[in-house]
Amino acid sequence: MTSSTQDRVKIFDTTLRDGEQSPGATMTHAEKLEIAGLLDEMGVDIIEAGFPIASEGDFQAVSEIAKNAVNSSICGLARANITDIDRCWEAVKHSAQPRIHTFIGTSPLHRAIPNLSMDEMAERIEQTVTHARNLCPDVQWSPMDATRTEHDYLCRVIEIAIKCGATTINIPDTVGYTAPRESADLIAMLIEKVPGADTVTFATHCHNDLGMATANALAAVEAGARQIECTINGLGERAGNTALEEVVMAMKVRNDILPYATRIDATKIMNISRRVSSVSGFAVQPNKAIVGKNAFAHESGIHQDGMLKNAETFEIMRPSDIGLSETSLVMGKHSGRAALRAKLADLGYDLGDNQLKDVFVRFKALADRKKEIYDDDLVALMQDSSAEA
Ligand code: KIV
Ligand code: ZN
Repeated sequence: MTSSTQDRVKIFDTTLRDGEQSPGATMTHAEKLEIAGLLDEMGVDIIEAGFPIASEGDFQAVSEIAKNAVNSSICGLARANITDIDRCWEAVKHSAQPRIHTFIGTSPLHRAIPNLSMDEMAERIEQTVTHARNLCPDVQWSPMDATRTEHDYLCRVIEIAIKCGATTINIPDTVGYTAPRESADLIAMLIEKVPGADTVTFATHCHNDLGMATANALAAVEAGARQIECTINGLGERAGNTALEEVVMAMKVRNDILPYATRIDATKIMNISRRVSSVSGFAVQPNKAIVGKNAFAHESGIHQDGMLKNAETFEIMRPSDIGLSETSLVMGKHSGRAALRAKLADLGYDLGDNQLKDVFVRFKALADRKKEIYDDDLVALMQDSSAEA
């Protein structure tokens, strides 16, 4: 199957809404515009640009992003009330492809907060989705905490939202509680049981509290979801959201078993990851999948030797696939002779076997004292050894 004949999965990025909501991740107006521009350029289908009722700043940012976007649809979040929805529309209406995303918590715990009975909540959903759809042709509806909502009630309220004109039904795992098989079963059950399910797109929105957000999102896709909600670097409240770079690269690298196409230009991943980390102030953990500093770094002698012979020995994707220039062979106490020779050659030192033997002994002694060996350390080592010769 070629990518043009594969089922397409839409990428809905919520870095600027759910991601920015994480404590301490606030971005300035200019930073939000910059990130939105990069998301638009990389092929994100829908950018959730903010929560317009939350503040004047959020409203201005969503409006401006809506005016500037070239390719992406621009979405704003609204609670299930008329004031929120009107404010959201005022901001997103500037987009060539506006979307209103309205939600309400449907699980027993969430129903208790506004103190609504099941019937009263169903009525609220009917009114608010109808209102949103009268304003905007593209309406997304989310039953917050869907994965802890009674299945009968979930089917009932989704049916109402579809009848009232919702075009996308998003299934949030708000507290990162589900597991892959359950995530898939839930989507399959909804698609099978809810009347009208075949007329809408189902979306998956996962949080990472148990470290399963990526697996849960991909399982939902295998069961029929066709929109993944995610953030750059997995930025988001608590343990964060599904990471865009992980789901996109999983569907690329394992396209044999995950045969879904996206519009994302993956070579733009590394740049946007760095920008989001810088503007949010959230450093990316070194061993983070795809975008961590060590994701394409190798230190052990066996791995470095394998990499020098054939990169596929220890890499399932090329650094250039995500816009990184090269694999890094980190020099340390686990490195072997072949990697040292290659590294020194890069630095302009071509060594014969005897000289390499001598330098390798000194290198190992240095590596026992120092965690990481930088290029400057190797140059100093070479200068010492030529002074002694
Ligand atoms: O996690 C969640 O439930 C949300 C909703 C607003 C979709 O972010
Ligand atoms: Zn969320």
